[in-house]
Amino acid sequence: MLEVDKLNQYYSGSHILRDVSFVAPAGRLTTLLGRNGVGKTTLLRCLMGVVPVRSGSVSWNGQPLDKLPPYERVGRGLGYVPQGREIFPRLTVEENLLIGAAGKPAPKGVPRHIYQLFPVLEDMKQRRGGDLSGGQQQQLAIGRALMSEPELLILDEPTEGIQPNIIQDIGRTLRRLVDEFGMTVLLVEQYYDFARAIADHYAVITRGEIVASGDGRDMDARNVREMISV
Ligand SMILES: Nc1ncnc2c1ncn2[C@@H]1O[C@H](COP(=O)(O)OP(=O)(O)OP(=O)(O)O)[C@@H](O)[C@H]1O
Ligand SMILES: [Mg+2]
Repeated sequence: MLEVDKLNQYYSGSHILRDVSFVAPAGRLTTLLGRNGVGKTTLLRCLMGVVPVRSGSVSWNGQPLDKLPPYERVGRGLGYVPQGREIFPRLTVEENLLIGAAGKPAPKGVPRHIYQLFPVLEDMKQRRGGDLSGGQQQQLAIGRALMSEPELLILDEPTEGIQPNIIQDIGRTLRRLVDEFGMTVLLVEQYYDFARAIADHYAVITRGEIVASGDGRDMDARNVREMISV
């Protein structure tokens, strides 16, 4: 289980995360929903150790991560798919994937299951990353994060700017990672219907504070859509 306890973070004078506490249960898909600018990406960057936290703690399977740099958090089983994908446009698809395994001793090519999850990446493995469509680049970013064999996969708005048919594929793939591979997923989203369709558990963040959380099946009844609509 991922446990986030009373996290506080500031950018210069402004208080961005305010005593943020929530859990993402192991082997489940948790969605964290919030409008633009409420601190979702900042929170994920704190989970990965990319930005420092002022106070509070993050632990994974009972082990505190707070003192670890990002690469050691990857070593402890965290995988991160950043907002905007951040693939390397001039490298091939295969090279982009192999970079995801750079922390592993002598990666021997791309494992079968990655191409089985994303057949399009195998078809296009010699193309440059920058030549892929936005949706294909998103699949590449997820595939790259899977190369480090994470136990906890963290995704920042993977549906942003992506065509609907690929969004459906991504949703099915995330469910498979949980149901077939036993992975834990933390999905940050603003697209309610997508998150509602696949989440086991949810939390809502507004202006740096967690204001609701619960079972994914209760999202409609608890008016979560209204909490994040503008
Ligand atoms: N590097 C930074 N320096 C100063 N302020 C920042 C920085 N990054 C983000 N902010 C501010 O912190 C707040 C939270 O930003 P953040 O990117 O975490 O929000 P978000 O929920 O991910 O938004 P979005 O839905 O648009 O991705 C915003 O007010 C933003 O302007
Ligand atoms: Mg963001």
